[in-house]
Amino acid sequence: MQGRKLRVIVGSDDAGFEYKEALRADLETHERVSSVLDVGVASDEVMAYPSVATAAAEKVAAGEADRALLICGTGLGVAISANKVRGVRAVTAHDSYSVERSVLSNNAQVLCIGQRVVGKQLARKLIQEWLTHEFDPNSASSSKIAILNEYEGC
Ligand code: RB5
Repeated sequence: MQGRKLRVIVGSDDAGFEYKEALRADLETHERVSSVLDVGVASDEVMAYPSVATAAAEKVAAGEADRALLICGTGLGVAISANKVRGVRAVTAHDSYSVERSVLSNNAQVLCIGQRVVGKQLARKLIQEWLTHEFDPNSASSSKIAILNEYEGC
């Protein structure tokens, strides 16, 4: 496995709790992951997705983690919320190619998955793949990320 080790945050609302627990367990034993921080929800108690997603994204923006994995029912609400945080690029992706491009093209730090959209085994496989990808700052995609950063003033 190539690349630096990753500090990963996981978070979900109640609609994503089951997958968040399963994917966190996978991350905790993955050779490319140096640490996993779970920002909740701690049980399947009701939790509004913007609260957990913005909390995770703020930690990524502050440099406290390299990536975040966020789960809600669709993967949409957590992505919208995380993208409100300056400097954070969050995507919803449920297929292998999009997961790959989210890192290689978009340098997205946050991947969002919908528990009500994909099967658990597919979600687990996508996360394994996600961890193998690393953005190349010398790639043609870098200039596009620079435009985003300039727009956001970061
Ligand atoms: C449930 O609150 C559901 O709306 C939420 O998990 C998510 O799918 C929103 O985008």
